[in-house]
Amino acid sequence: MKKYLVIGNPINHSLSPKLHNYWIRQNNLDASYDKKLINENDVKEIISKLQNDILSGINVTVPFKKSVIPFLSELTPLAKETDSVNTIYKKKDKIIGDNTDVGGFEYALQHIDFNVKDKTAFVLGAGGVAPSIISALKKMGVSKITLSNRTKEKAEILKKKYSDLDIVDWGDNKTSDIIINATSLGLKKDEGIKFDYSKIGSNKLFYDVIYNPSKTKFLSEAERLNNRVENGKMMFIYQAQLSFKIWHNIKPKIDDKLINFLSDD
Ligand code: ATR
Repeated sequence: MKKYLVIGNPINHSLSPKLHNYWIRQNNLDASYDKKLINENDVKEIISKLQNDILSGINVTVPFKKSVIPFLSELTPLAKETDSVNTIYKKKDKIIGDNTDVGGFEYALQHIDFNVKDKTAFVLGAGGVAPSIISALKKMGVSKITLSNRTKEKAEILKKKYSDLDIVDWGDNKTSDIIINATSLGLKKDEGIKFDYSKIGSNKLFYDVIYNPSKTKFLSEAERLNNRVENGKMMFIYQAQLSFKIWHNIKPKIDDKLINFLSDD
């Protein structure tokens, strides 16, 4: 039986095992998918289990998407660009790190028929997921990205890689067609973001990478002001679909039944 794992800290909330095991059953595969709480010191040993074929694939979540990189033999171009790995596998004795968050965000916007081509975007946050969001937006032809992060130095570091980013102070914001929360603010219930909604106006798309809770304060406030809102659930599902395809060479089905099954928690 092939074994797969998602590693992170915290990890208890992760819906990846539920989703992957659903698809494993649906496709009659001899495999299982588990979650494991780890610390920084465990990263090397866990990855060595791929080399020894004890594990066949690993998903990586916060806060290890970058710290796994030194232990991998190769990165795909997207993982290299974003400095972020969420999917690991073995290919011809090499341990490869890939990034399916970029594709996950792209497909999530396609899923809701939102075309960002020639539109402006405002990204909140410069942590682990921010480069994946920026990379996807650029691939989809966005005209301008403005970024704001509490710790401005981290935004400036991102600008070294993505030189056409506009950086603004935390709490300041610009009118944009799509506003994305890529911070961890909102994970705790009723946790708001320092954000001046009056500068943005209405009829915009507010996107929160967070999917649990399903409606963060960021989204409920935006909705109250007549904006369209979307949480990170479809991004989560699509990144998992892309990982599944890499490991099993099967593109698993995404339908309402699956989406509802995941919402049961
Ligand atoms: P990391 O920063 O280690 O990559 P992350 O979970 O990937 O961790 O990113 C957390 C993001 O949420 C960061 O953009 C962080 O801002 P800082 O870079 O200033 O830490 C943001 N964040 C977390 N708590 C925040 C808070 N209370 N106020 C504002 N931003 C916050």
